Amino acid sequence: MLFPLVVMLLQAGSIRGSLPFYNGFYYDRVMNDHGESNGEVQFSGVRLMIETSNDAVFSHRGGNVTLPCRYYYSPQLAAPRKIRIKWSKLREDSTKDADVLVASGSKHRSFGHFRGRTRLQRSSEEEVSLVIQDIDLHDAGKYRCEVIDGLEDESGIVELGLRGVVFPYQPHRGRYTLNFHEAKKACEEQDAVIASFDQLFDSWMEGLDWCNAGWLIDGTVQYPITVPREPCGGKGVAPGIRNYGERHKNLNRFDVFCFSSALKGTVYYLARHQGFTLEEAKQACQDDQAEIAKVGQLYSAWKFMGLDQCDAGWLADGSVRYPIAFPRPNCGPLEPGVRSFGYPKSGKFGVYCYRMS
Ligand SMILES: *[C@@H]1O[C@H](CO)[C@@H](O)[C@H](O)[C@H]1NC(C)=O
Repeated sequence: MLFPLVVMLLQAGSIRGSLPFYNGFYYDRVMNDHGESNGEVQFSGVRLMIETSNDAVFSHRGGNVTLPCRYYYSPQLAAPRKIRIKWSKLREDSTKDADVLVASGSKHRSFGHFRGRTRLQRSSEEEVSLVIQDIDLHDAGKYRCEVIDGLEDESGIVELGLRGVVFPYQPHRGRYTLNFHEAKKACEEQDAVIASFDQLFDSWMEGLDWCNAGWLIDGTVQYPITVPREPCGGKGVAPGIRNYGERHKNLNRFDVFCFSSALKGTVYYLARHQGFTLEEAKQACQDDQAEIAKVGQLYSAWKFMGLDQCDAGWLADGSVRYPIAFPRPNCGPLEPGVRSFGYPKSGKFGVYCYRMS
């Protein structure tokens, strides 16, 4: 069984000058003709196989995670072959994958914002799992584990999900004022990222109901409805995510759905008898060795730390809100949530401050 493989390796070596460049590695088109089916590659009766996790792996901001991946040959080879490993991340807003890490022998290199946070876990010869430390909001998504054998390469997909919270966001200047690029930026300014469809879907399953359409990372505009009603896609229509489809990223304007995960640090309420203006509120947090909280931070603290305060307070964007984990009379609706007073032009309130630590 092994003999034909060796012969083919020699043939491959003799035509190396004309090989196409593929995924950053030389790749032999001749070998590709030997048949690829069902996610496995065959050469000389030996198949390179990849195994990943079918279920998404879940973590949260600030956590560490291992994305499992292993490879093997079938039938088993007598001697190990030299391989390269490449991990990349699929991007929802682009057809091009982002490089995460490449490894060959004992050498490896990671890229972009993964630098210094990723390594391979190889507790056995066959394991090529990816460890990501100090996960941030941009890390959620699908990752490709690719093993390149010199002759062929095979890959599998692992999904990293983040536990988090989705919140609709409407900026100071009003409803439906954000194009796609501004929508992305608006979320980042609130210490969040623009949500994916999966994240919106999970929040809808948890009861999110919002009758204003918002951008998602894939460039579509959608909104989640749990209680069907006339102005929100129709009364006779089943609950679900209403979809306006893909919209023009520069010309069309909507709100946005933002996503945040666990909070690094704490959010707390600060008040004084006569209240604060927005400017006084910012100063009060600074005087307390903190800063005025962003909307995403208030949502994180509410969702992950059960922050519950029945007092309206300023946030950095000029909105006034309060978080309720345990609904009770005189504190808004019967469901837990972050209540909003919009963007008051005047008036004095307390303030929500954020302290990293
Ligand atoms: C993540 O891993 C690093 C390095 O091993 C460790 O210092 C850190 O405490 C870990 N973080 C968590 C949240 O477990």
